[in-house]
Parts: sequence; C-alpha cells; structure tokens
Amino acid sequence: RISLSLAVLLGVGEASTPGSLWSWHPPTAKDSRGPCPMLNTLANHEFLPHTGRDFTQDDIVNALKTGLNFSDELGTFLFEQGLKTNTAENATTWGLDTLSTHNILEHDASLSRADHEYANDAVTFNATVFEQTSSYWTGDLINIQMAADARLARIVDSLKYNPEFSLSATGAQFGAGEGAAYLIVFGNRTEVTARKDVVRSFFENERLPTDMGWTIPSPAITIKELFEVKDAIIAATRFEVEGVEKMKRAHGILDKGF
Ligand code: HEM
Ligand code: MG
Repeated sequence: RISLSLAVLLGVGEASTPGSLWSWHPPTAKDSRGPCPMLNTLANHEFLPHTGRDFTQDDIVNALKTGLNFSDELGTFLFEQGLKTNTAENATTWGLDTLSTHNILEHDASLSRADHEYANDAVTFNATVFEQTSSYWTGDLINIQMAADARLARIVDSLKYNPEFSLSATGAQFGAGEGAAYLIVFGNRTEVTARKDVVRSFFENERLPTDMGWTIPSPAITIKELFEVKDAIIAATRFEVEGVEKMKRAHGILDKGF
C-alpha cells in the first residue's frame, strides 16, 4: 500500500513523461536539445519527452505546470509561440529541433549561446558568451537592472562583432521575456531578484537546482506576471548606449522593442 501511494504521489506510470525533480538524465546522441535552457532542462528531467521532439500542447502545458507551476493560460500561450517554429503545414507539434530555426524565435544576442552566424551554432551552451553575460550580474542577487544590462551588453557585442546581426521585434520581446523568466522562476518574486549562484547552476547544468534549495514556485506564474517583469526589463534598458540607436534605426525597431 505504502509503495503504491508513493508511486501515485510521484506520478509513476501516469504518463509517458513521468518527470520528477529527482530524476535527471542528460541527452543521448539520439535526443534533440535546443536554444532554450529551460526546455532542455525539462526534457532532462522528463517533464517533457526526453527525445526533445514532437511536443504536443498537453506535453508543454503539463510540463510547465508540473515542473514550474506555470498557469495553463501561460503554458498554452508559450505552446502557441513554439508552434510557429514548425513550418510544416497544419503542424500540431514542435520540438527542440524546430525551436532552433534562426529568426523565428531563436535570435541573436543570446545570454548563453553564440549568434547563429558563428559556426552555425546558436544552440549549445557557450561558456565564453555566458561569462560575458554573468559579468553584468554584479551582486549575489540578480535584479531587473542587472538583467537589462546583461542583455544590452550582448546586443552591443553583436553590433560590434557580427555584421550579420539581426534582432526582430519578436526576438527583442522574447529576449526580455527570457530575462523575466529566469528572474521569476528562480527568484524572490516580491523583490524581483534571483540568486546568481542558482541561476548560474541552471544555465550551466540544464538541471533544476534543488540541490541549492530551489523549490517549485508558488503561487502559479501567470502571463501577467511574466509580462510585467519583461516590460520592467525593457524599461530598465539603457537605450542611450552607443551603437544601439544606430542599430534600432537600421532595423526599423524604433519602438520599445528591445
Ligand atoms: C531561450 C523558447 C520556456 C527561459 C529560449 C529560446 C527560445 C525559447 C526559442 C532561444 C532564444 C535565443 O536565441 O536566445 C521557449 C518556449 C518556451 C520556453 C517556446 C515554452 C514553451 C521557458 C521557460 C523558461 C525559459 C519556462 C524559464 C526559466 C529561457 C531563457 C532563455 C531562453 C533564460 C535565454 C537563453 C539564452 O539567451 O542563452 N527560449 N522557452 N524558457 N529561455 Fe525559453
Ligand atoms: Mg540565440
């Protein structure tokens, strides 16, 4: 009886993706991983199919709910974003393979990946890029200003060194949203700060940092909260930095797009 209730509690045998915080398996050569450290993480924990392919709406909504306590509404919204990356006609699924297509959702000036133009690899974790990002996280706690500064530094770096650099309005909004996502999921949501060591561990290991005391957020994370923090990051972005105005003109991004 005891072991049966334990099994039920852990969701064992309930679904094809019985993810848990305590099981974690890195990808094998057959598995696909992508440019989103969190979706990779959820696949490593088997909240998402470990193959990293063919996610259904249920897969995504359930994984984000069980692993991170995202509301159904936010999970559905994010699924719909991901679906744009599967360009097959009438597609109903997508995966970490389709997510990597450049300039649909994947964009330049990422926090932990090189630009697409370099070695054609905007997908795997890049320690050099990530060191640059984390040098802007100047305290033990990352706040909105540091998140904004880190992202802008990556944009300025790409402007300088990547003649092919591009950032669409969608890419720009997504970039700020990614900052919001790590602050909220790993942070103190009242203060809107996140422990740098916890965030670093997540990026570097693509594993949920339970060993550092992280627990599933509560209450549920909503679209409203994600967008509020995203907009706060955009508002904190120091657009006056040299080169950025030029880039905004060149790309026609004249609004608050990044
Ligand atoms: C990056 C999609 C969920 C955190 C990305 C990228 C994509 C993506 C396409 C690559 C952008 C780039 O080029 O940098 C998605 C989709 C999601 C999802 C479709 C849900 C269905 C999440 C969640 C988190 C998250 C729940 C929570 C922490 C991040 C972060 C990055 C990122 C921090 C930036 C990585 C970097 O710049 O190196 N995501 N994501 N994502 N995602 Fe996700
Ligand atoms: Mg990228």
